[in-house]
Amino acid sequence: MPKLTVVNREGEESTIDVEDGLTVMEAIRDNGFDELLALCGGCCSCATCHVLVDPAFVAKLPEMSEDEDDLLESSDHRAENSRLSCQIAFTDALDGLKVTIAPED
Ligand code: FES
Repeated sequence: MPKLTVVNREGEESTIDVEDGLTVMEAIRDNGFDELLALCGGCCSCATCHVLVDPAFVAKLPEMSEDEDDLLESSDHRAENSRLSCQIAFTDALDGLKVTIAPED
């Protein structure tokens, strides 16, 4: 199973196995990281699933939609490598991906 490394807001790293067909948000949420609120459940309307992606993987991610871009714009913590984790389908190609849960807005 492909692996995803998650860094929480305390800077602690955990590596989890991700089942096929999940988004990065679902994988993080299902593994008990309660810092990632994901309030809208993945509808791309809340921005509480904001993560910072390891720069080595940014180019491998699906392109950002206008909606995602607009929502990220509302965050005080937006960075070059910001993404909404519900908009990233986790595939084998992303094995080893590392994301950091963004600071709370
Ligand atoms: S869970 Fe709401 S935008 Fe991702």
